[in-house]
Amino acid sequence: MPIIRTLSKVAKQALLSTPGCGCQPLTVAVRNISFSPRQVTSDASFHSVSFSETDHPKVLITGGLGQLGVGLAKLLRKRFGKNSVILSDIRKPPSNVFHSGPFIYSDILDYKNLREIVVNNRITWLVHYSALLSAVGEANVALARSVNITGLHNILDIAAEHGLRLFVPSTIGAFGPTSPRNPTPDLCVQRPRTIYGVSKVHAELMGEYYHHRYGLDFRCLRYPGIISADSMPGGGTTDYAVQIFHDAIKSGKFECNLRADTRLPMMYIDDCLRATLEVMEAPADTLSMRTYNINAMSFTPEELAQELQKQMPELEVTYDVDNVRQAIADSWPMNFDDSNARKEWGWKHDYDLPELVQTMLNFFSAEMRMTRAN
Ligand SMILES: NC(=O)c1ccc[n+]([C@@H]2O[C@H](COP(=O)([O-])OP(=O)(O)OC[C@H]3O[C@@H](n4cnc5c(N)ncnc54)[C@H](O)[C@@H]3O)[C@@H](O)[C@H]2O)c1
Repeated sequence: MPIIRTLSKVAKQALLSTPGCGCQPLTVAVRNISFSPRQVTSDASFHSVSFSETDHPKVLITGGLGQLGVGLAKLLRKRFGKNSVILSDIRKPPSNVFHSGPFIYSDILDYKNLREIVVNNRITWLVHYSALLSAVGEANVALARSVNITGLHNILDIAAEHGLRLFVPSTIGAFGPTSPRNPTPDLCVQRPRTIYGVSKVHAELMGEYYHHRYGLDFRCLRYPGIISADSMPGGGTTDYAVQIFHDAIKSGKFECNLRADTRLPMMYIDDCLRATLEVMEAPADTLSMRTYNINAMSFTPEELAQELQKQMPELEVTYDVDNVRQAIADSWPMNFDDSNARKEWGWKHDYDLPELVQTMLNFFSAEMRMTRAN
């Protein structure tokens, strides 16, 4: 590795010749220069510096203003302290989010800006949520390619360069029509037909490659469709399972854009966020893989509607199928095999379909009571 030796020598000389700069340990500076994948030759073979945590991690969440980021920040802040978790996005945060803890502008396509944030805030964990989801991605392939693929390259390089623990979510959308669909195991054929799916397979493979090549602590969960009450979905194929609650409460009617018998894996947001924290905290020696399926339940629009109608018998559901979303859903897993996650790091869901429906309805009725009271 001649280039590594040369860089180390240059760094050593630079540090030794800088008067009064004795504040930085020499080895750290040398490592930082040596281990950036953007700076090494293609024949370099080594592992990056493993990050050392003090008492708790310092976390940066990218794309934090979407359906999942604000909830994850809340969970992580409860565990690690308010100032240990920085939310970031390219959008302006609502005032309650802005005042609930540190928020910073970050465009993942801007490598220097990302590096500055990581360095200035001594980040040790990076949760990479920025993405264009399936339906939105199909409507803007060039942007999805740029955010989901070029953006990911920036994230991987920053994480490897600074020895971060990196979480990138993948999805049921990383599978395609030639994958086994019921159930879909962790390892099988992955030939998705959307730019979203292609970009997520790319993320899984690049993360695993960086792990083997540079020792990057890359961790990835394939989320099912996520259902939440207090945040809206960002343009995915499973959005109907959130929208039905909003429409049921507002008008007692719901028009579904998927066929009644479309079976997809789903999860309540609290389970999804807890799984994310748990896999990030899992001791490295419990993980035999870098990418795991996680699952909680699997249902069709008809089964979800029937469960809701137990409590809201007047709810009317009609179907007007969106062909783009239906084609995507028909190529995705119906059921996820998450036995490896359960066996290796103890994954266990709390919410199945009846609990999910009850929890969502409780949330909305509490919200309605508050609105009436104000
Ligand atoms: N929500 C789900 O059901 C689900 C399921 C599987 C996987 N996931 C994955 O989880 C992650 C979070 O999902 P979500 O539902 O919160 O997504 P979302 O679409 O609601 O939010 C994504 C966020 O990324 C931000 N963003 C877009 N371009 C950006 C850029 N250039 N720089 C920085 N931020 C940018 C957007 O402003 C948005 O706030 C995504 O990677 C998604 O693929 C979500």
